[in-house]
Amino acid sequence: MRRMESAGLLSCFVAQRHPLTPSKSGSHIAMTTTIDPTQADPNAHNGEENTMPSFGQRPGHRVFIETYGCQMNLADSELMGGILGTSGYTAAPNHDEADVILINTCAVRERAEERVFGRLSHLLRYKHARPEVILGVTGCMAERLREDITERAPYVDLVVGPDAYRRLPKLIAESQEVENDPVVDVKLDRDETYEGLSPKRTPGISGWVTVQRGCDKFCTFCIVPFVRGRERGVAPDEVLRQCRDLAERGYREVTLLGQTVNSYRHEDTDFADLLELLVDVDGLERIRFTSPYPTDFTPKLIETMATHDEICNYLHLPLQSGSDDVLERMKRRYTSGEFLDLVGQIRETIPDIAMSTDIIVGFPGESDEDYQQTVDLLEEVRFDFAYLFKYSERDGTNAARQLEDDVGEDVKGERLSSLIERQEEISGEVFKNRVGQTVQVMVIGESKRDAQDLCGRSDDFKMTVFPRPDDRELNPGDFVDVRVTDATSHTLLGEPVFR
Ligand code: 5AD
Repeated sequence: MRRMESAGLLSCFVAQRHPLTPSKSGSHIAMTTTIDPTQADPNAHNGEENTMPSFGQRPGHRVFIETYGCQMNLADSELMGGILGTSGYTAAPNHDEADVILINTCAVRERAEERVFGRLSHLLRYKHARPEVILGVTGCMAERLREDITERAPYVDLVVGPDAYRRLPKLIAESQEVENDPVVDVKLDRDETYEGLSPKRTPGISGWVTVQRGCDKFCTFCIVPFVRGRERGVAPDEVLRQCRDLAERGYREVTLLGQTVNSYRHEDTDFADLLELLVDVDGLERIRFTSPYPTDFTPKLIETMATHDEICNYLHLPLQSGSDDVLERMKRRYTSGEFLDLVGQIRETIPDIAMSTDIIVGFPGESDEDYQQTVDLLEEVRFDFAYLFKYSERDGTNAARQLEDDVGEDVKGERLSSLIERQEEISGEVFKNRVGQTVQVMVIGESKRDAQDLCGRSDDFKMTVFPRPDDRELNPGDFVDVRVTDATSHTLLGEPVFR
């Protein structure tokens, strides 16, 4: 790990993007933007930024991609941008000038889907203005709701699932030819890892590399295995190629993505081995990954993290519930005690590591006592921050099939707000403990609030704001030590220290 100058208690921060979902669903820290910028680098991909290249222009070939959801979706949009770019498509600067508008979607919670339906009816105006415009839905919601989409939004021309992106140029061409029926391709493919393709990345300092697709865990609440198919690891050589490519393009930080990223396996290579390969990539200063699955967190992985400065001091470790009964019904494969043991082992080896988590409240059968156990566990672990969600029943999941969604909306709401309140307090307390310490920050750019200030992230992923120094220039991707002088509940504030 890249060690802090002064180790010690962790601080809190909130208002982060969730690594694997977009939804606001009541979380105090979840995303509020319709189009979800990246967690890794808020300045690298803002709002409706297009992920398409913009060389040359062919009639009918200007594409605008809107992305909803997790970092994996953002990475997939870049992948689509790369695929389309090699077939002669170019980036449209906005919807008005696009011949093809694609919405890359998420299906993790109902609310995310409803927002997309709202967005689709809004986008219909572009088809009214120019009927030849192709409107397409891609990603997880396309996979899950193919029929609903074509029924509720019959004007949609194209429905493309997460394993069909290679065929996107052909599918767009087909949809430009047919009059009425939408072109649908939602075939899942257990071998597709999009090897050999080059995503069209938005220039920046932080990028993603998808190292694993699909999921085999089948947590009973979760739709992902059904919409993204079986788990498969991207070949280590391919991951290495993409990481080198990132570094050559000036990126300094990579976030490795996978639904249960540390379950990664490709032939004999496990996740710790993969990290070992990547720490030697010249120019990549920081390596992050998300999201690990607790029971696949091996001592070898903990050691690997502790050994290498390049691997950042931050872990997003989804807990989901503090009740053993609920965990069992969720099929999470660990007890609260085992989770605590794991946190203990990680903290013992990497004392200054920051941690965040995911919690679902109101899972079927969650009693007051179960809920209280979640509160107790949050208090015991004292995560730096947490993404908190109300259970949202997803058709097709085991929970939807076997368990009644029996916790009332009002109870879910109360539990969520009181958990948010408690976590905010914990985050606030933990956060204040950072004052007086020095953190190493990778500069992102100008602070959004005040152009006199710069902002960046600490090794342990805390947004840090500090005055722009008069006597030297700091550019995105530069590293600077910042002495923390104050803190809000979302941000460390400090002074740069030059030695
Ligand atoms: N309802 C609510 N939250 C969910 N998540 C996944 N599925 C659901 C659901 N059906 C949350 C989990 C997961 C995060 C990505 O989204 O906490 O870790």
